[in-house]
Amino acid sequence: YVVTSDLTGIAWRFPLIEMQGVPLRNYIVQKWSNISAFCPDPSDMLIATYPKAGTTWTQEIVDLLLHNGDEEACKRASTSDRFPFLEIQYPPPIPSGKVIYVARNAKDNLVSYYHFDRMNQAQPQPGPWEEYIQKFMRGKVAWGSWYDHVKDYWKEREKRNILYLFFEDLKKDPRREVERIMRYMDLSVTDDVIDKIVQLTSFKNMRDNPMANYTFIPKIMFDHSISPFMRRGEVGDWTNHFTPAQSQMFDEDYARQMADVDIPFCTSI
Ligand SMILES: *[C@@H]1O[C@H](CO)[C@@H](O)[C@H](O)[C@H]1NC(C)=O
Repeated sequence: YVVTSDLTGIAWRFPLIEMQGVPLRNYIVQKWSNISAFCPDPSDMLIATYPKAGTTWTQEIVDLLLHNGDEEACKRASTSDRFPFLEIQYPPPIPSGKVIYVARNAKDNLVSYYHFDRMNQAQPQPGPWEEYIQKFMRGKVAWGSWYDHVKDYWKEREKRNILYLFFEDLKKDPRREVERIMRYMDLSVTDDVIDKIVQLTSFKNMRDNPMANYTFIPKIMFDHSISPFMRRGEVGDWTNHFTPAQSQMFDEDYARQMADVDIPFCTSI
């Protein structure tokens, strides 16, 4: 994990600064001109998600497909070394000819992000749950509005040939989704390898994989004793967090913010 040296040990819980309306960690904004000048090679591939929507999961599936299911090869390095984050680890040795986008339903994504912000010492404290819901709805969390994120990629998906996936589909029918990713990447692996990849990327195996479970970065950054990075990986955990009143308020706002699109999210399986 790379944190630029001038910040190491000084600025945990980096403040957010708005960049074109999107709150981002201050050091990302400081190097934005370099990041936006990045010119991908057509053979590169980008995996894009709102935070906590299935990023690490999809990265592991893609790497296993590229290595024909060889789990040892995929343990050569940590997730963030194998798939550098464009804005965090700039300059990255990565992508954007092909784009795989993963979207997760808003309520589960919110819950997951809340627990992530509790344990992630690089982002502002989430504050009380009730207030976090409001911040999420207004896009005042790192990487901005969930609503804009899922909508912008949705609107672009056909024009740009983006593979638009849903976390809930990956959970419901992982085999089918792994095959879709394989075809999109112009790869072909045997049925046995697909089965193996599905096994290796189950929640339990991802949680116990030291190269994927984010115990490879210092505890001062990710404190798994507050909440593990791989927390539950389920669909519908939001029902354990939202009160009925919060749920209703959220749904009403959601209907307004999502009125211009019809993205088939599901909040239970
Ligand atoms: C990460 O993986 C290691 C190795 O399997 C395991 O011992 C540890 O409990 C996992 N940690 C978390 C926080 O999931």
